[in-house]
Amino acid sequence: MATETTIDRLGDHVEQDVTLSGWVYNTRGSGKVLFLILRDGTGLCQAVVEKSDATGSFFDAAKHLGRESSLRVTGTVRAEPRAEGGFELAVTDLVVLQRAEEYPITPKAHGPDFLFQRRHLWLRSKRQHIILRIRHTLIDAVRRFFNDRGFVLVDTPLFSPAAGEGASTLFEVDYFGEPVYLAQTGQLYLESACMAHRKVYCFGPTFRAEKSKTRRHLTEFWMVEPEVAFIDLDGLMTLAEAFICALLERVLADHRADLEALDRDITALEAVQRPFVRLSYTDAVDMLKGPQAREHLEKDLADKTARIKTLTASLAELEEAEKSAKKKWQRDKAAQEIAAAREELSEFEEQIGNIPKHMELAAGFDWGKDLGGSDETIVSRLHDRPVLVHRYPKQAKAFYMKLDREDSRVVLNFDLLAPEGYGEIIGGSAREDDYDKLLERIDEEGLKREPYEWYLDLRRYGSVPHGGFGLGIERTLGWICGLKHVREAIPFARMMGKIYP
Ligand code: 4AD
Ligand code: MG
Repeated sequence: MATETTIDRLGDHVEQDVTLSGWVYNTRGSGKVLFLILRDGTGLCQAVVEKSDATGSFFDAAKHLGRESSLRVTGTVRAEPRAEGGFELAVTDLVVLQRAEEYPITPKAHGPDFLFQRRHLWLRSKRQHIILRIRHTLIDAVRRFFNDRGFVLVDTPLFSPAAGEGASTLFEVDYFGEPVYLAQTGQLYLESACMAHRKVYCFGPTFRAEKSKTRRHLTEFWMVEPEVAFIDLDGLMTLAEAFICALLERVLADHRADLEALDRDITALEAVQRPFVRLSYTDAVDMLKGPQAREHLEKDLADKTARIKTLTASLAELEEAEKSAKKKWQRDKAAQEIAAAREELSEFEEQIGNIPKHMELAAGFDWGKDLGGSDETIVSRLHDRPVLVHRYPKQAKAFYMKLDREDSRVVLNFDLLAPEGYGEIIGGSAREDDYDKLLERIDEEGLKREPYEWYLDLRRYGSVPHGGFGLGIERTLGWICGLKHVREAIPFARMMGKIYP
């Protein structure tokens, strides 16, 4: 009797008979030998079917199986260093569960729109499979970090009577005739819980009605938020540093081969070491307006222009190769490379087109505004480690942030910018713990007092210095995996104009 197993366990069964259940990832073969690449959710495995009397009953059926047909195969496990995963299966029996025909996602290059429309199927592709497995590890590392340090998980509500962040990104919901909002943050509730448990965190879906389509914004994303009593801004930044290092260490330990398969530059991740750079907002603005930023952008422009030139030349060569190719596989290969080169080219062209605008924005930056995406990119590219930008002008940030007692124009907050231009992945602050000052900020922001009465209670009954931060899972995963857009970092992305599938 063959043992039922999965591809990730094949090493335990060398020279034994096993049965695998899965899907056809790919097939190739000559007249007499068929190579089925099987996928079973735990990995890929080459199953070899040799035409013989013993396989005669299913050989032809197997030969015509379309991609993603489901099946069960039985065979002997052989060590095969050249095969993906290191093992292959010499098939002795094969049962088709369902024959799939014309699976829409082929090995040919598809554009992102095509793939996102078929996200429910695209999840099966190798690259997407890797990204979601790394997401799983990242989330596990997040929970472990806080659990191991005595933080208590406190789940915060998703229906909320008031804004937690900016009022402009609220999703309104009809709550039995009352307008309420989907949570933009769990923070205000966590502040209450940290007065009970001292160190707490929440981790859940977060909603923002972001009307801009950028590579960093989703309307539904996952955020983890720690909140700590008796902590100051320095303590928070130190916690954020330790947190990021722990997350990276875990992903690098568990997913080195996966990151390589994604073509991620691993040395850039390994370079992330403590201490991170700490830079005040005011210094960051000086940097943006100064020669360093201008020189960086000029160099970027020159590099990209040169890259476009070489890409254009190699595109012409590839097109020539496609035309003169004799074999279908040669044409397919050239077509795939052409599609990739065209995509890269159009990205560079778009980026180049934006550089003059980014130069202008940086040079003319007015103290007082929040840093924009391109500003963050410049600041982060000017450093090889994450940058903690602290003490932003109060008008650029949320009402709950504590005013700096040494300079009341700024608040005691920080944004953590990931390296390589990925921008903000963490936002956090010390919270205003003085009743009168908080009330003043609520009024200044034009917020109604009533929904915040309970929140003000925290400043009436045993107020203490406290603070916390929020880390966006998709932006963090996007940075770690080197993704171009956060929509690939979540199983089913929600963005303006995107709700299907
Ligand atoms: O900076 P934000 O808005 O901070 C807060 O919500 C605080 N209440 C957190 C806290 O102090 N407890 O958001 C925190 C992080 C950002 O740095 C970013 O990583 C992510 O959440 N984020 C988004 N990710 C994807 N799409 C969006 N629209 C996001 N908005 C914020
Ligand atoms: Mg922020």
